[in-house]
Amino acid sequence: GIPKSLEGKTVLITAGPTYEAIDPVRFIGNHSSGKMGFSLAEEASKRGAKVILISGPSSQTIHDKNVELHKVTSAREMLAKVFEFYEKIDIGIASAAVADYAPKEVAAEKIKKNDENLTIELVKNPDILKTMGEKKTHQFLVGFALETQNEEENAKGKLEKKNLDMIVLNSLRDEGAGFKNDTNKIKIFTKTEKKEFDLKSKDEVAVDILNFVESQLLK
Ligand code: C5P
Repeated sequence: GIPKSLEGKTVLITAGPTYEAIDPVRFIGNHSSGKMGFSLAEEASKRGAKVILISGPSSQTIHDKNVELHKVTSAREMLAKVFEFYEKIDIGIASAAVADYAPKEVAAEKIKKNDENLTIELVKNPDILKTMGEKKTHQFLVGFALETQNEEENAKGKLEKKNLDMIVLNSLRDEGAGFKNDTNKIKIFTKTEKKEFDLKSKDEVAVDILNFVESQLLK
């Protein structure tokens, strides 16, 4: 048949939230649904790519049996899983909403509600995408940015700081964009380009994102 546009490419995608354990029954997490990452995985697979999807806890399911799904829980587990594959991938897309901090210690037993106040000390999590950027040799790296102020400036700052090739900005100011929603409204930046898109379903946004990635690979 006709060769597909991502045939021969390996695409790694991170998705969903991470959960950072406090004790055996509790965690710190966020409301990320994982939808954007799962949509990207299905679309990349349709285009003939070998897809490695590394997802934190998410209720999304993959219908395409060619997508290799690896489930993880914490940021550290996600980082370790990403680097099992990193050297062999052509494209890395970080759509996971990684928790910025994790409890310094995980209590061995369920914490009892004895005291009026409870303090949990947090330590910074590893930045998975930044680490990918530091170790980049040939990979095309795509990040996401969710900003509430100075959006474009911050997104472009992240593109530089994390050594990315492309960043997808979704604004929380746009009704229906980002995170828990089924729709998203994005702007894409490279070092030299900017493109704005309309509000659409995350499946359609995945098409736009991968079209843009492919246009960059041809340069
Ligand atoms: O720095 P910030 O969290 O805004 O950057 C967002 C981008 O970095 C996203 O692509 C996200 O998946 C990635 N990221 C990561 N590991 C972290 C934090 C963010 O991979 N610890």
